[in-house]
Amino acid sequence: MKKRLLSGMRPSGPLHLGHLVGVLNNWAKLQDEYECFFMVADWHAHMSEYENPTQLKKYTLDNVIDWVACGLDPKISTLFVQSHVAGHTELHLLLSNITPLGWLERCPTYKEQLREIKTRNLHTYGFLGYPVLQAADILLYKAKGVPVGQDQLAHLELTREILRRFQHIYKKEVFAEPQAILTATPKLLGIDRRKMSKSYNNFIALSDTPEEVRRKTARMITDPERIRKSDPGHPKICNVFSYYKTFCPEMEQQVRTWCTKAEAGCTECKQKLAQMLNETLAPIRERRKELTKHTSTVQDILNEGAKKAKAVAGETLAEVKKLIGLY
Ligand code: TRP
Ligand code: SF4
Repeated sequence: MKKRLLSGMRPSGPLHLGHLVGVLNNWAKLQDEYECFFMVADWHAHMSEYENPTQLKKYTLDNVIDWVACGLDPKISTLFVQSHVAGHTELHLLLSNITPLGWLERCPTYKEQLREIKTRNLHTYGFLGYPVLQAADILLYKAKGVPVGQDQLAHLELTREILRRFQHIYKKEVFAEPQAILTATPKLLGIDRRKMSKSYNNFIALSDTPEEVRRKTARMITDPERIRKSDPGHPKICNVFSYYKTFCPEMEQQVRTWCTKAEAGCTECKQKLAQMLNETLAPIRERRKELTKHTSTVQDILNEGAKKAKAVAGETLAEVKKLIGLY
């Protein structure tokens, strides 16, 4: 019996190279070792996009296409959409009833988002409960492993606290304690050297055409002190170099020599990088194209996923409802 794992992603934009090396490659690998549930967290996205949710559906489908194109295999893993499985909102309500307000108000991610996000009104009842819904996602499947980034550890800790409170009140161990699966992943900056993010529009999307990849790569910021081709450069501080390290480590030595011995100019170095990135993206693009051609395939994957998810979720909910005394 494989251990069960659940993870999710909000459908808030196109997926990019940062997602590929930071999340998707990792998820794809975990499929051998775990029974995997991968979820599009559309209710979570709705919490911040409720005033303008017009892109939710598009990004949901688009992200799932990217998932499959990057190696998530719907034959062995369950790929599904959160809102297709009603159990998430039911368990969310039950957990809301037992979660003290203070735990949520103190949550560091909550405070940070309220401080930083000014373009949307997040002072809502629902948004405060963001981590409660996430706890419901995880506990509904009794997932033991949750692959997440550092930024989600506080939510996972809250999940465990809510779980403990649940077991304390109802005197029964229904759920498994979920543990974070933290994997060291390369940090990839955007083409402008800021954090790669949709809001900065500084990313290379998995759906970008080869031409777009070339254009964006050409705009990448390099060693600012290397003005002429004859100036030796400093790969250590160059973002282009860190892309080489991530996507084609076999060229690392070569590029270092080009740069420090001034054998090749930055333009040439970036052109070569674009070519390497396009080689990485080619098979993904190929599979994307196939999946985009037949939207029915993606629908089928998500219908099948919802069916499998509902079966597990239904069992947990039945058990829980009986335990808490609903008729
Ligand atoms: N909050 C997560 C994020 O923003 C997404 C998410 C929702 C999630 N539900 C989850 C992650 C359950 C892991 C498990 O990245
Ligand atoms: Fe960066 Fe390449 Fe230019 Fe060196 S040659 S500074 S590694 S782009």
